[in-house]
Amino acid sequence: MITAKNLEVRAGKKVLLSIPHFELQEGEVLGIMGPNGAGKSTFIKALALLEKPSQGTIFLKGKDITNDLTLDMRRRFAVAMQQPLLLDTTVFQNVAVGLKLRKLPRQEVKQKVAYWLEKFQISSLAKKHGANLSGGEAQRVNLARAMVLEPEVLFLDEPFSALDFPTKVQLLKDIKSIIQQTNTTTVFVSHDLMELKFLADTLAILMDGDLKQTGPTEEVLASPNSSTSGFINDWQSLLN
Ligand SMILES: Nc1ncnc2c1ncn2[C@@H]1O[C@H](COP(=O)(O)OP(=O)(O)O)[C@@H](O)[C@H]1O
Ligand SMILES: [Mg+2]
Repeated sequence: MITAKNLEVRAGKKVLLSIPHFELQEGEVLGIMGPNGAGKSTFIKALALLEKPSQGTIFLKGKDITNDLTLDMRRRFAVAMQQPLLLDTTVFQNVAVGLKLRKLPRQEVKQKVAYWLEKFQISSLAKKHGANLSGGEAQRVNLARAMVLEPEVLFLDEPFSALDFPTKVQLLKDIKSIIQQTNTTTVFVSHDLMELKFLADTLAILMDGDLKQTGPTEEVLASPNSSTSGFINDWQSLLN
């Protein structure tokens, strides 16, 4: 689905990201885990074409999209981050805004928004103002706003990190079933191994701006390599 070659992102002279090869399969749910400052958000932004790499090439289904910053291309991706950044309007309008920008007929907007509010179990909040939501509710709106656009790739950057445990567990279950039902190709950044074990089929460990190990989640966790073992074993020792 997405391939990246020799991807490099710099800020001045500092290399934030340097990834020789990356591949994301269609329908894959890839988890990306790594320490704070490893470059996870930078990586997601580069793949979603929100940040221009200083070097390298990104392909979508074989087509070079590195410099394709057209609206049409960006619209094939959706990104949800830790802080929902809702607009200063109702829940309904927050979810509708992307469809309105695409000039969909009113009836279709209404129907699609209603469908996704229902899917995320926030129909009852439709008329509530974005500012008056709990953290969990706001993140549900944020995710509905992403999914309503039917993205080809969904990028999630620590969307559950700010939520309390029960809220997080419920939302994890809901998003997992939604991703499965829609077969949405997903890149999910998290620093929480519990979340990743639950959601991600494959796991990539990102440290110091590079992918140190990638594979099926259970395999990576069972057999960390010399670069990742310190980081992974610290986590495992907490959870087991
Ligand atoms: N625009 C920028 N200019 C300089 N340094 C940056 C910039 N953006 C991020 N960084 C640095 O790049 C590194 C990776 O950041 P980030 O991708 O946010 O890491 P993560 O999401 O894994 O915590 C960090 O050391 C961060 O301080
Ligand atoms: Mg980050």
